[in-house]
Amino acid sequence: MISKVQKVVLAYSGGLDTSIIIPWLKENYGCEVICYTGNVGQDNELEGLEEKAIASGASKIYIEDLREEFIEDYIFPTIKAGAIYEGRYLLGSALSRPIIAKHMVQIAEKENADALSHGCTGKGNDQVRFELTFKAMNPKLRVIAPWREWDIRSREQAIAYAEKYNIPLTVSKEKIYSNDANLWHRSSEGGVLEDPWAEPPDNVFEVVILPENAPDTAEFIEIEFEKGIPIGLNGKRLSPLDFMLQLNTTASRHGIGVVDMVENRLVGIKSRGVYETPGGTLLYQAHREIESLVLDADTMHFKESIAPRYAELVYYGKWFTPLRLALDGFVEQTQKHVTGTARLKLYKGNAIAVGRKSPFSLYREDYATFGEDDVYDQKDAEGFINCFGLPLKVRAMLKLNGTGASDYEKPDYSKFKRD
Ligand code: ARG
Repeated sequence: MISKVQKVVLAYSGGLDTSIIIPWLKENYGCEVICYTGNVGQDNELEGLEEKAIASGASKIYIEDLREEFIEDYIFPTIKAGAIYEGRYLLGSALSRPIIAKHMVQIAEKENADALSHGCTGKGNDQVRFELTFKAMNPKLRVIAPWREWDIRSREQAIAYAEKYNIPLTVSKEKIYSNDANLWHRSSEGGVLEDPWAEPPDNVFEVVILPENAPDTAEFIEIEFEKGIPIGLNGKRLSPLDFMLQLNTTASRHGIGVVDMVENRLVGIKSRGVYETPGGTLLYQAHREIESLVLDADTMHFKESIAPRYAELVYYGKWFTPLRLALDGFVEQTQKHVTGTARLKLYKGNAIAVGRKSPFSLYREDYATFGEDDVYDQKDAEGFINCFGLPLKVRAMLKLNGTGASDYEKPDYSKFKRD
């Protein structure tokens, strides 16, 4: 017995790892185990969960439908911010941890539990995301992370442990990848993907169809936004959940939303991940199209400069932080007029923006036209260029006098061998 814990709330998925944690906690801490499962759209994993948790030794299980909250309070702010980690990752797993962790704390408080537990390994980002949220919500609750404590090191050992404690196993003995799925994305890591040069085998993909198997004809869709939030698809108003589900189906059918990347984990390791984010990919793109019409240049460029920072906060598990909230305040202000419709053409893995419109558009055809216009005097451009180019002119004049700074020197490419 390590030390006294009465009651622990465990983040439970029904998978092998979180299943064996139940008897392990009871054996090593002598505590009662309450399971918590937040439904964030991992639908097929939810079947039979209750019986399984009880059969594995839990005293009870809470299963909560968090899907609407997940979309409205976590996904929407991130889309509005345009946050993408390292230019590629749409943060699907990172976004789901704070919401699950927050609800676990609520259950722990309601149940008078004194500890929280999760099945994240000690090598990943998810442990950080869970635990930073635990700390932010209730620093008094103790955290038990079995993967950082026990001697189980492989899947075989985990299966042996499960068999010893008669834990019902529905998973096959061969698990090829480490996956995490929700209504926003599905991630795959591990197995052959650990070789960053190896192309992902077809069996990696469970959501998005391969582009070569996608339809030979393009499909056009229209996504409507109001104040930065998607509200309609092809002229029909939909609830956030129906919207996401339909958009995912459409995008998946056309092979859209696959990212294959090497990323920097928070714990210092580089890892290779393959992500399927079909609907999300379209949403980011469509949202940006509306912004291109309604945001002024300064606001847009500043917003773009903070988007990577926002993404980093999400990736690092710093969701419930003053900075994230403050950035939200800025972003929200920019979204007041992000209302309009984007039209996308979907074709074999590509989403091509072909149209955008907004009642708040700053785009003026009569200003932009290459045809004749009477609002823009082309002669004005001359004075503007004279002022704008003045520093360049001064520098060049110094150089003519022989007193200027030397120019950038081109590398000597002849040193590089070529065939
Ligand atoms: N690398 C991604 C991230 O850190 C995905 C993590 C997936 N989590 C998992 N338990 N398989 O956000």
